[in-house]
Amino acid sequence: MKWQSKKAVSIRIDIISAVPQVLMSPINESIIKRAQQKQLAEIVVHDLRSFTHDKHKIIDQPPYGGGAGMILKPEPIFECIEWLKSERTYDEVIYVTADGERFDQKMANQFSLKKNVIILCGHYKGIDERVRQELITKEISIGDYVLTGGELAAMVIADAVVRLIPGVISDGESALTDSFQDGLLDSPYYTRPPEFRGMKVPDVLLSGDHKEVAKWKEEQRKKKTAERRKDLLK
Ligand code: ADE
Repeated sequence: MKWQSKKAVSIRIDIISAVPQVLMSPINESIIKRAQQKQLAEIVVHDLRSFTHDKHKIIDQPPYGGGAGMILKPEPIFECIEWLKSERTYDEVIYVTADGERFDQKMANQFSLKKNVIILCGHYKGIDERVRQELITKEISIGDYVLTGGELAAMVIADAVVRLIPGVISDGESALTDSFQDGLLDSPYYTRPPEFRGMKVPDVLLSGDHKEVAKWKEEQRKKKTAERRKDLLK
């Protein structure tokens, strides 16, 4: 089973999954939907079971040597990735896993410059090590906690990457001023009304003095980063 969006011009992300239904809602909503409508990104989901050849479409097996949980077997994964590679050249074949390298904004920026990327989602206890050795170019974790499968991690990565593609976010400035883009967290924001339930918008933001506003924002960013994420200031 495959779901395909419109033709891409900027980045194509192929996501391979044992539970592709999990991916459909975020792909067909959110920023990713908009990027696909604008033909700036193409996300193609592949059901691992469609690369099996047995009646029961078996994709997993117990691990050799024992242990709890099931392991995704190598054959369907090899078949799927080799088929994709026969169609186009891939810049990266990513496996999302809790024991991978930690995903961050810098990595998102790097991936946003790529043309074709595969993301393989693990499920159950993991995947056969031979897939990791032979096919995977990068192993990525979205944080120090264990998810049931890689699908949510794949969507986190796809979202963080796709929103950086020029034209996806209508205000071209806004991705550049995100938290982390220059190593600091973002400043607070206020909108109308100037006073709400006795809480006032800081005077400087109403002053019209752009230099003072920029100074205030920078101070706020440093203050918040020092309070919450000292590690970023190093
Ligand atoms: N699969 C399971 N846990 C994960 C995590 N933290 N990051 C990426 N993929 C995962």
